[in-house]
Amino acid sequence: MKIQEQSVGEIAARRPGAIEVFYRYGIEFCCGGGVPFSRVCEEKGLDPDKVLKEIEEAGRETGGDFRAWEEASTAEIVSHLLEGYHVPQRERLDQCAEWAVKVARVHEEKDPRLLALRDTFLALRDELLEHFDKEEELLFPAIVAGNPEKAAALLDSLSQEHEEAGASLEEIRKLSDGFVVPPQACNTWRALLQGLEKLERGLHEHIHLENNVLFPKVRS
Ligand SMILES: [Fe+2]
Ligand SMILES: [Fe+2]
Repeated sequence: MKIQEQSVGEIAARRPGAIEVFYRYGIEFCCGGGVPFSRVCEEKGLDPDKVLKEIEEAGRETGGDFRAWEEASTAEIVSHLLEGYHVPQRERLDQCAEWAVKVARVHEEKDPRLLALRDTFLALRDELLEHFDKEEELLFPAIVAGNPEKAAALLDSLSQEHEEAGASLEEIRKLSDGFVVPPQACNTWRALLQGLEKLERGLHEHIHLENNVLFPKVRS
């Protein structure tokens, strides 16, 4: 299949450098990853050849860290998801929750949106912790035990939860002006925004790996 006809999710999974360039252009590759690359470029008014060239360049610089997870076994992907995403993101969710509560309490009068930011984030954290539990207790054991029917039955609701998490992340990005640190921010406020930005990036990669690599493997 010509690369232009592949979906952005497939390109993100197969080409080193693609995720970095998709970020540069605000191309969504995790929940909206099923859309063909050519259509995304058309909608955004981008020249697909230019974007592909940038992916090639980015891949040459960072390609050493890239792993083509589509070629790995499902058990290997599961263990990478746990160690690389679930464990550190649980910690980051707790840390950001502590900061979000504190910053909203102390600086509410400087920016009233801090209250909505706190509430949206705390709701996202609760949903994600439950979602991680479901994957760790039901989905991953079914995959590792070689029970694809049982695993596949869980995928629709988990994908739906990914969509909801993606929407909350977008809301959080809006409420914090794209994580730009405002001049009146104290150190905790700054740490919160930096923590949220890292969390967003990590969650996009995490969800991408599940939606576009692991789940299709389980379904097939
Ligand atoms: Fe996960
Ligand atoms: Fe997930």
